Amino acid sequence: MNYFKATDDQRAQIEHYWAEYGQHLPPDADKTSAITFHRLMTVRNRLAKGLSPVKPPPCIEPATREMINISFGLKTLDNLDKSGMTPKQACEFDAVLDHVRKWIKTDKSLVLSSPQFGIGKTAIAQIIVDAFKLPISGGGEPQFVDGEPDFELWDHATMIKSRDLMALFQDANKDPFKLLRRMRLIVIDEVGDEGNLVYVAKDNQTKEMQSRYYALIDWAASEGKRIVITTNLTKRQLFEQHFSGKTVSRLIALVGVGNFINMPDLPDYRIKQAGL
Ligand SMILES: Nc1ncnc2c1ncn2[C@@H]1O[C@H](COP(=O)(O)OP(=O)(O)O)[C@@H](O)[C@H]1O
Ligand SMILES: [Mg+2]
Repeated sequence: MNYFKATDDQRAQIEHYWAEYGQHLPPDADKTSAITFHRLMTVRNRLAKGLSPVKPPPCIEPATREMINISFGLKTLDNLDKSGMTPKQACEFDAVLDHVRKWIKTDKSLVLSSPQFGIGKTAIAQIIVDAFKLPISGGGEPQFVDGEPDFELWDHATMIKSRDLMALFQDANKDPFKLLRRMRLIVIDEVGDEGNLVYVAKDNQTKEMQSRYYALIDWAASEGKRIVITTNLTKRQLFEQHFSGKTVSRLIALVGVGNFINMPDLPDYRIKQAGL
């Protein structure tokens, strides 16, 4: 199923502009897809304005947000609880947090993987999302961003559960990326727990799920979005079974070396909280 079939008019435009701007798109871009049309137009508009063909991700200093979270008593990479961990676990957990601190300043994507539950994958992902919010001070005073006052707390990152992501594709007439377009970073939480896709035949479930992930990852790659995946699947399960080959190929390019994190063996925090 193609969610983004180009209209005849768009296809004619793709043919027309491909020779000039096609080089800035992936060589295997589908010339019958409306996404390709929009990408070509984006490249064309950006070059016409004297900009680089593909938008570089803007950079907001995550440390600022970290400071604010600390003052609000929210979770940060610095105040996660290690009290229930053995020294070895605490050390390994620290190494993960250190990696995330360095990673956040890059333009790469990230995978947090572990078959265990309640060990902080989603908590870390939420801290990452928080780091992408524009800073607003405790008193509600607007902060200045690039010299301009910003009067709203404007989210630049969001977290979506894999199930809800799948549901975005349910209505073929709606743009599944509408809500994600203004985000620079998107967390897909609990990959592997998509559940049953509604209105999809039983035999077609896996294929359809894989095609939805490909649409998202391909879009993210072309738009310069960063992806964070949390999953209970192992690298092998994720790359050899769950996603299709072309999704894996795109995802590996986005994630880069060292940003597939196998979480260490840690105690379930919910069990600790319950005092069990
Ligand atoms: N090291 C930690 N410090 C503080 N809270 C934690 C820690 N690890 C997990 N939690 C909290 O425990 C709950 C379960 O963790 P979560 O991140 O959802 O686990 P996972 O996604 O790995 O299954 C959440 O409320 C989370 O905020
Ligand atoms: Mg989780």
